[in-house]
Amino acid sequence: MSDFEARARRVLPPVLGHYTWLEIDRGEGSWLFTADGRRVLDLTCGIAVTAVGHAHPKVVKAVTTQAQRLMHISAGVAKYESSIALAEALATITPRGLDSVFFGNSGAEAVEGAIKLTRQTTGREAIIVFRGGFHGRTVGAATLTTSKSQYRRGYGALLPEVYVAPFPYPLACALPEAHDMEACEAHCFAELEMMLEHEVPPEHVAAIVIEPVLGEGGYIAAPASFLRRLRELATKIGALLVFDEVQTGMGRTGAWFAAQKVGVTPDVMTLAKALGGGLPLGAVVATRERMEHWRTGTHGSTFGGNPVSCASGLATLEVIRDEGLVARAEVLGTIMVEELAPLRSHPRLREIRQFGAMVAAEFDNKTVAKAAIAASLERDVLLISCGFHDQVVRFIPALNIKEDDLRKGMRSFVEAARSILVGAPA
Ligand SMILES: Cc1ncc(COP(=O)(O)O)c(C=O)c1O
Repeated sequence: MSDFEARARRVLPPVLGHYTWLEIDRGEGSWLFTADGRRVLDLTCGIAVTAVGHAHPKVVKAVTTQAQRLMHISAGVAKYESSIALAEALATITPRGLDSVFFGNSGAEAVEGAIKLTRQTTGREAIIVFRGGFHGRTVGAATLTTSKSQYRRGYGALLPEVYVAPFPYPLACALPEAHDMEACEAHCFAELEMMLEHEVPPEHVAAIVIEPVLGEGGYIAAPASFLRRLRELATKIGALLVFDEVQTGMGRTGAWFAAQKVGVTPDVMTLAKALGGGLPLGAVVATRERMEHWRTGTHGSTFGGNPVSCASGLATLEVIRDEGLVARAEVLGTIMVEELAPLRSHPRLREIRQFGAMVAAEFDNKTVAKAAIAASLERDVLLISCGFHDQVVRFIPALNIKEDDLRKGMRSFVEAARSILVGAPA
């Protein structure tokens, strides 16, 4: 154990999980430089955050310029240009009509905001979520989270009136026989309808909350037809459809938002991660009309929409837009899948999935996935897992990564995975 790791272990509590104990000294583009002199390719983006890479000169300039002018005043006390400019810019890229933005500091906070907004403005309490979803770790958001039961361990009663419906994912579906996505979708939607018949009256439902692509749950895209049916159902029963786009937003999926890619407009979106370009920033986005019903003073935040975070977010959005990175996300996804091809026939690999620049390789167990990740790191490629059992390796490159770096990184992963798959435990 390095001195640094020993120091870290002394002062940080064990509750904080860790993928690695790497000591990062600095980041530049898609590269991380460790304190002991290694240069590591970052295919995590710090869990889907640094969409334009580390220390992009335009983002750094915006952050330093803003820090010199004003670091904090609180949006409740006074207004400032960077937050208004970012909200205006967001309104030009969000799905039609979603042009009013409440800024918070994180994804979980955005989800908390969405719970409050939907409950208060509908006068209803029930929230329907989908098994396998991850929405954050604060108490409200953790109630909506079902990707792993450990996120609730020992925390007692969480929020009341949260109902969990199945998410279409054929590899982990309760249906007894192997089936395709179409059959899985039909089964999940029928279960949801049964829930409204037996467990929660439709007129009690404030919101249907879903990640269009399960993130922490394993990079699993809900079929567009399923999301369309949710849209119709929400409208029919007078509930609000909330897309949690914390991980999918800001160009990651090959559209600004997954909502646009699948052609379904939700009533509310939650954003964070890439939104702040590396600084803490989250947002609840809805129509002006909806926001007009959220009563003044019933929600707020001291730090939400901090001037420096908003300047960072605005510069990041401009880089994504000006450098054509939304379209590039799809290209990167295709490259990654192409490079993973040699693994396809391996018996330990269950599936390769791609949705824009969200790519996943699902193995048949956690040990194999973790070993492949560890072997990649030995080859100086940083990757992280996801999935209900951490059995999925996810690839989240910066949207401006050099093609050559990405191809080499993916090849290193393939080599690493092959090296450990030989004789891996069943
Ligand atoms: C879809 C989704 N929602 C919410 C969150 C919570 O975000 P945060 O960790 O910023 O609270 C995450 C984090 O991984 C996420 O992926």
